[in-house]
Amino acid sequence: MKVKPKILIVDDKGENLVALEKTLADLNVDFVRATSGNDALAVTLEQEFALALVDVQMPGMDGFETVELMRQDKKTRHIPIIFISAIYTEEYHKIKGIETGAIDFITKPINPKIVLGKVRIFLELHEYKRSLEEQNKIITASHKELQIALDELGLMHEELVKSQEQLVQSQKLAAIGQLVSGIAHEINNPLMAISGNAQLLLEDAEDEDTLESLEVIRCETQRATDIVQNLLAFARSHKSDRDLVSINEVVENAVKLCSNKSKIDNIQIVYDFTSDMPNINIDSLQIQQVFLNLINNAIQAMTKTKDSGKLIIRTQQPSEETVQISFEDDGPGIPAENIDRVFEPFFTTKDIGEGTGLGLSICYGIIQSHNGKIYAESTESNGATFNIELPIIDDTSNNQSDIAVLEPAGATQDTQG
Ligand SMILES: Nc1ncnc2c1ncn2[C@@H]1O[C@H](COP(=O)(O)OP(=O)(O)OP(=O)(O)O)[C@@H](O)[C@H]1O
Ligand SMILES: [Mg+2]
Repeated sequence: MKVKPKILIVDDKGENLVALEKTLADLNVDFVRATSGNDALAVTLEQEFALALVDVQMPGMDGFETVELMRQDKKTRHIPIIFISAIYTEEYHKIKGIETGAIDFITKPINPKIVLGKVRIFLELHEYKRSLEEQNKIITASHKELQIALDELGLMHEELVKSQEQLVQSQKLAAIGQLVSGIAHEINNPLMAISGNAQLLLEDAEDEDTLESLEVIRCETQRATDIVQNLLAFARSHKSDRDLVSINEVVENAVKLCSNKSKIDNIQIVYDFTSDMPNINIDSLQIQQVFLNLINNAIQAMTKTKDSGKLIIRTQQPSEETVQISFEDDGPGIPAENIDRVFEPFFTTKDIGEGTGLGLSICYGIIQSHNGKIYAESTESNGATFNIELPIIDDTSNNQSDIAVLEPAGATQDTQG
């Protein structure tokens, strides 16, 4: 229901108040009376008024003083005022803050038509102001909604860009995979022949020079075979063998396989595990392969720039649906211009013969086939962190962090990443 506007009438004489109300009886408004300046001030602090009709000549505080005080208060500053006085005077111009609100003047004896006309104009102004405020509120609310929608749109756009990048990456991987597997198979056969023949010759050779040359042939053939195996591993569309397993155990198994290398290279591997992680449905050999690649990359990066290093492997459950595994090293980090390229097949910063640049693309493919995400974060010179997110199928949710330090220790086997 629409609230009626209120008009304040201030006069020390009761009969004048009654006469004014009668004159304005046709208006759809509520009247509030005040019989002194003090009364008027008190009532304007409590209620909202569309207009005040103020008698100038009052005992004590006169109309001008009353309005001057009103103009000093934030709440009452903007109430439009009509002075009513027997003598026309310019005195009201002295009122401080006169420019802040509408002020008009009516002389006594009052002409009812003039009073009604002026009051109507002020009421219209009041109604106009009220509807502007109303519209303002609506505009502010729509603006907020628009802002929210824009933010959501921004997020959707980001997601879209990410999915597009992932799509491009997987299409690239698929195309390269096909090419690579064709070439690798072709190269594999002659390599086997070279390796077999070198082996035979080695058995019969007697002089030192021949033995040395044959040993070089054997070593280099082995290196070429390793590269081909890597290429085939990258290209293979391997049938997944999924099981419900503990991700912390898969990490521990991968670390065991690297512990010899980490010990030799003086790398400390620290677990920051969340206990009670839910078992997740993965191909544990494939995921172990991913972890091995990441650990080996980290070890290689750290030993490149210093004599020792620390790798923290963290497991967490950031949401009901996901587990996160991160590998944080304190090596040289990844320069900003490379951070988006490290998952590209054949991208490597290692010297020729030291890396094929396939390790991370294999990781990427495996994590994608698990409907997960893998991404790198790095601030240069502060090390690199590789994060993996994998979906949970079997869900238990208790997040407590255990920190265990695994010193470089003797191990069983070593695997190249
Ligand atoms: N932890 C890390 N710190 C710094 N740079 C890294 C790290 N991990 C990977 N990189 C960068 O990413 C590149 C690509 O890594 P990726 O594992 O794909 O290939 P590679 O290690 O060079 O070769 P490969 O794994 O085939 O032996 C690396 O050459 C290196 O520049
Ligand atoms: Mg690697």
